Amino acid sequence: MRADTLTPDQLAQIDSLIEAMTWEEKLNQIQVTFKMSQEECLEAARSGIGALFWPGSARDTNALQKAAIEESAHGIPLLIGLDVIHGFRTIFPTPLAMAASFAPKLAQASARASAEEARSNGVNWTFSPMVDTSRDPRWGRVVEGFGEDPLVNSAFGAAMVRGYQGEKLDSSSLMAACAKHYVGYGAAEGGRDYNTVDMSTRRLRDVYLPPFRQCVEAGAATVMASFNTMNGRPMHAHKALLTEVLKEEYGFEGFIVGDASGVENLIPHGVAANMEQAAIMSLSAGLDMEMGGKLYEDGHALLTEPDPALVERVNEACRRVLGVKFALGLFDNPYIPEDAEILEPREDHRATARQMAEQCPVLLTNNGTLPVAPTFSGKILLAGPAADSRDHLGAWVQRMGVEPEVSLKDTLAAALPQAQITVRAHENPLAISDEDIAEIRGCAADYDLILLALSEPSDLSGEASSRADIRLPGNQDRLVEAACESDTPVVVVLVNGRPLDISAWAHLPAAILEAWHLGITGPEVIADILTGHINPSGRLPMAFPRSVGQLPAAYDARENTGRPPSRAGSIEPKNFDFAVDGPTNIAEFFTSKYRDLDLGPLFPFGHGLSYSPITVEKVQVRTPTLAIAEMNKGACIQVEVTLTNEGDVPADYSLLVFTHDILSSLAPAVRRLAAFVKVGIPAGGTIHETVDIPASALAFWEESTGAPVIEAGEFEVLIEGDPNQEPPRFTLV
Ligand code: GLC
Repeated sequence: MRADTLTPDQLAQIDSLIEAMTWEEKLNQIQVTFKMSQEECLEAARSGIGALFWPGSARDTNALQKAAIEESAHGIPLLIGLDVIHGFRTIFPTPLAMAASFAPKLAQASARASAEEARSNGVNWTFSPMVDTSRDPRWGRVVEGFGEDPLVNSAFGAAMVRGYQGEKLDSSSLMAACAKHYVGYGAAEGGRDYNTVDMSTRRLRDVYLPPFRQCVEAGAATVMASFNTMNGRPMHAHKALLTEVLKEEYGFEGFIVGDASGVENLIPHGVAANMEQAAIMSLSAGLDMEMGGKLYEDGHALLTEPDPALVERVNEACRRVLGVKFALGLFDNPYIPEDAEILEPREDHRATARQMAEQCPVLLTNNGTLPVAPTFSGKILLAGPAADSRDHLGAWVQRMGVEPEVSLKDTLAAALPQAQITVRAHENPLAISDEDIAEIRGCAADYDLILLALSEPSDLSGEASSRADIRLPGNQDRLVEAACESDTPVVVVLVNGRPLDISAWAHLPAAILEAWHLGITGPEVIADILTGHINPSGRLPMAFPRSVGQLPAAYDARENTGRPPSRAGSIEPKNFDFAVDGPTNIAEFFTSKYRDLDLGPLFPFGHGLSYSPITVEKVQVRTPTLAIAEMNKGACIQVEVTLTNEGDVPADYSLLVFTHDILSSLAPAVRRLAAFVKVGIPAGGTIHETVDIPASALAFWEESTGAPVIEAGEFEVLIEGDPNQEPPRFTLV
């Protein structure tokens, strides 16, 4: 939402509305209530409430708009909000799955389709995208964001904003976006939802704030405050971050909405004694709209004439809310054509969902068993809780989300018409029995191939779904181990929300496909990848740890430390006497590692295999030296990469370019994602891709100056498969 979005006439209308509204009417305008009946919503609309949750249809939405426009004091139309996180009726892959595509343009197209569907039903405001950088898969909400890297969250968040809002918000098929949850929610201690967040300014500035800045620059109409504290201060009352950073420094012109009951939560946070204090505290900090409808419940004193500063603050909040309504065109076109509701997944939207889904699955391991030839005529056992399940939609899908019409059982039968497929679908992923395990152990040798479709159910990820144990639930690990006891090759397909701890068995199967919750086209896309009709091109947007004890396992959270390990530790008794032999770095003992775990995550950020051997022929830095002054004016470091697809099928390939700052005033990450691009490489073809590394990818927050800095010096360019003996370098001067 940019300042120039509104015309002088609209600004004048806003001023006269503010002039005419009473204090209570203004407080009403900056609230959104939820969980009410249509009758209660109509009453709230007549009272001048600013926003309501979607009532369930275009007709009911129009009735609410009519009540607001014709029966309230000032006839101000309503914002109608809903969590349209990855689809409305047509359900797209979860955001974490989308991130695995490294193709933000496809996410933008998905958001565009979602907006068209939702707006046709009356929703004009979505509480999406979530751009919480997330590094702890114990947190159930990692599924709603774009993973552990700030650049990926920035690119996908901005793309989703553009998808929802288009260039100008006033088209009747768009929605106001909401970048959430501002800020740091993904860093909840222990991955426990709603828990404390405490971090350095540097980490806040370099890892958690950038995606929000990118969403603001993409024009996000709204931002949602997060439930957590940031270094002791609840975000719903954090003036420095809500006002000084987001509004003043980033120039955010839309409005900040609280999360559900987030203002009221200031009371259990222990910073407000009652709702009145909480309301005054959050409004004064810069929150513009309260979610819960409790700003003035029980007629508490906030209704008396408050101090002038709060009056001005509430006037500004009203201006921001009214500004978004004008930008949406609601004053001119508040009603939805009831005969144009999109009530089913439209074919073009389904095609968009399929195009997105095809790019998301990540081939974690493969000994060559995959792909299974479509002419395969052997005996296949298809087993596991996801073998014949429709649970592919993922977290944050409401009742209008349409499940796949088919399951893996159906799509595999169609993709492998000559195979003799026996299905042993385990109904409940939370309760694989000893009998189930014994049965698969007993029959595995009878088959030529076992496809084990395993499930972390959709409702086991998302909000309020943190897990202390991130293995597959319900003994599914034991099902894998039993299936792998015979010589029959086993292919595991994971249908899950978050990165899991699969280290107990990941070495056993012939192949592992991370398929995520892909939405409505999940079963067909998985079958097409297993049979080679689609060449997998996903990469992990978030690491799979070796153990929950290893978290956080994010790649760029790893500074080298003063004692970097070069090999795994051991729990064997030490064979030296620390006191007598002294603290020298004896045989690697005194280095940063776990004695009982191999180094690094099981599968790191960026990991992903293809069916085609893709060779990095050459990596060349086109700009070996560049002046920082030039970079600050927009010049980029240019890296040219030559890639060859040695396979006999075309391949999509996510090229990730990392840098490593050789010497810095602050300990640099061992590698930092500087740019990424998704390219197509024809079978047997070679392409030359030039990637630009901008200043923002090299800068870091410098506490002493209170600003991002780029330091002179040498940087390595790190690209997987780079044939150079040493990583190529560039120098900033
Ligand atoms: C929830 C979530 C938020 C969502 C809001 C409205 O508690 O934290 O992401 O948009 O409430 O449903």
